[in-house]
Amino acid sequence: MLAQGHEPSLPYSFLPEGYDAADVWCVDKFRLAPRSQVADFVQEIWKERGGQVDKVLDLCCGSGLLLRELLQRGYDVTGLDRSAAQLRQAERKIRGQERARLVRSELPAIALEEQFDAVVSTGALVHLPNDVTLLRTFENVHRLLRPGGTFVFDMYTKRHAESLATYTTPTARVIEDGPFTLLMSITRTAIEGTYNWHGLMYLREENSQVYVRRSETHQLYAWPQEQIAGLGARAGFRDIEVFDNFTRQPTGSQTVCETYVMVR
Ligand SMILES: C[S@@+](CC[C@H](N)C(=O)[O-])C[C@H]1O[C@@H](n2cnc3c(N)ncnc32)[C@H](O)[C@@H]1O
Repeated sequence: MLAQGHEPSLPYSFLPEGYDAADVWCVDKFRLAPRSQVADFVQEIWKERGGQVDKVLDLCCGSGLLLRELLQRGYDVTGLDRSAAQLRQAERKIRGQERARLVRSELPAIALEEQFDAVVSTGALVHLPNDVTLLRTFENVHRLLRPGGTFVFDMYTKRHAESLATYTTPTARVIEDGPFTLLMSITRTAIEGTYNWHGLMYLREENSQVYVRRSETHQLYAWPQEQIAGLGARAGFRDIEVFDNFTRQPTGSQTVCETYVMVR
């Protein structure tokens, strides 16, 4: 096997090639909510607190998995992400659909001026590195939501991040999907609540035995619930609630993912 390329890449510049396969594996192994469950959850919340919802913003839409699910359920969807490679994957899923569009922007900035009935975000705000970035992001979401609109997003718990680190190190986990192979591990850092996701990836070139090799490191952060809720309130949100992993259950000691619901 020949391998080309070994400079570390920016987060989500190469991973998108195998993102959807890695996602299936992670949902299963780490008990994350499938996108259909996320969509069921947000629809229920919208019905109860959001009023009429037509226009939805998927913040950090990634490869467009939730965007596609919401589009199929009849919503007018906008996907925003900073990664051009992720947006290319998303574009393939929504091509030709008039009710969907994509925007490239890097949080905390949101390069949009129109109003939305609802904003959702999955698996992404865990990457925001500090409370200032989180607060600015919440303020910008607040600015874009119509009064009464809802913001639903998730965060990993510290317990979950610790278990990911235990599960994936010292041996990396291997995810294979056709020509794409990912070796994944997560390590704790010296800073409390901060973790590094390491991915070493190989992509076999078409009709050849040549593999392109890339590596990426993504930072993950686990925040106390009170801190996130406090930042939401400072940004102007009300009726802030936290649920267990896109269900209507309260969070507890086994919670993997905290689902925040905030109303503008
Ligand atoms: C784990 S993926 C989740 C993608 C998608 N929401 C999903 O559920 O599959 C995290 C996404 O957040 C995006 N992201 C991370 N930090 C960002 C930032 N500061 N601004 C915009 N996008 C960001 C990444 O590019 C990536 O696509």
